[in-house]
Amino acid sequence: MHAIMYSTRSYEPARYQRLNQGHHSLEMVSDRLTEESAAKAQGFDAVLAFVSDDLSAKVLKILATAGVKLIVCRSAGVDHVDLEAASALGIAVANCPRYSPAAVAEFAVGLLLALDRKIVLAHEQVLEHDFTLEALLGTELHGATVGIVGTGSIGTAFAQILKGFGASLLAYDPVHNPACIALGVTYCDLEPLLAKSDVVSLHAPLLPATWHLINARSLSSMKKGALLINTARGAVVDTAAIIASIEAGHLRGYAADVYEQERGVFFEDYSGKKLDDPLLEKLLNMRQVLLTPHQAFFTENALENMANNVFDNLDAFELEGQKGLCRAN
Ligand code: NAI
Repeated sequence: MHAIMYSTRSYEPARYQRLNQGHHSLEMVSDRLTEESAAKAQGFDAVLAFVSDDLSAKVLKILATAGVKLIVCRSAGVDHVDLEAASALGIAVANCPRYSPAAVAEFAVGLLLALDRKIVLAHEQVLEHDFTLEALLGTELHGATVGIVGTGSIGTAFAQILKGFGASLLAYDPVHNPACIALGVTYCDLEPLLAKSDVVSLHAPLLPATWHLINARSLSSMKKGALLINTARGAVVDTAAIIASIEAGHLRGYAADVYEQERGVFFEDYSGKKLDDPLLEKLLNMRQVLLTPHQAFFTENALENMANNVFDNLDAFELEGQKGLCRAN
């Protein structure tokens, strides 16, 4: 296959060249895929896209005209792709599901501990030679009730870890996962989950049904003093409502690896520059908020699995067309 990889990061070329072994002809560019850069795909069969790339109907149309027949997402989530438009244009979309559920689940637990036990604040304090404890009081996961929204690969891996902490686990998912039931997870509706949980962790994909699933109304159903963890997608929560709930003293803290307007900002270095996003600025300035730049997936194992998944998709498309793909559309 003749493939172009957009948003190539410094950590990718060596790995992709090693795994490809010259089989596919691969062009790697650092440009983010946009309406402007889409013309670079002229003459390529496949586009290897990252979560920061623009795969709107407009861009897909340019790609289709350029001859692209396949998009392989270097991600599990495909919410950044207009799947309907891709189907209408005859472009197949593949993804990399389950490249490492543990990478994301472990990071979610890390965010939770860092937020609750104030590990970042403690580090900042000791760097200032302040070794006092007063600002660092936390709670325990042992005996706490943790609500998991979305119990697919990542939610289940998260449940497994939290079980080890001795937490009581509730879950909300239209599909009840036997692996979670075997772990002792109790399924219930979203409202009771929010009302009973000391911690809520989001692991559902971004879909029309999950857009702003956590909003002013659902936040008011949450226990006062609860913590919310989001390693799913930014727009699963209404960020302004999160800020308002924290300001009102209801939500105790929010730790997120994702942000609803992250495209074009996350994965870029804005050091010393002003961000043209007052909501993000506000979020960054809240002591009860911990934000990381969409790094939950970023482990050696996950990158290797993801690259292998990408080549599996390219090989399958070359051999059998759409039949062997991890199809997203
Ligand atoms: P998965 O497909 O294995 O599981 C998703 C689960 O969400 C399924 O069980 C599904 O039934 C459930 N679900 C669907 N609609 C729902 C709703 N309305 N309410 C509650 N649950 C619902 O996906 P996986 O691999 O567990 O990934 C979950 C999400 O995590 C991805 O879609 C992606 O957005 C995000 N993610 C974030 C990463 C990061 O680096 N921060 C990396 C990888 C994934």
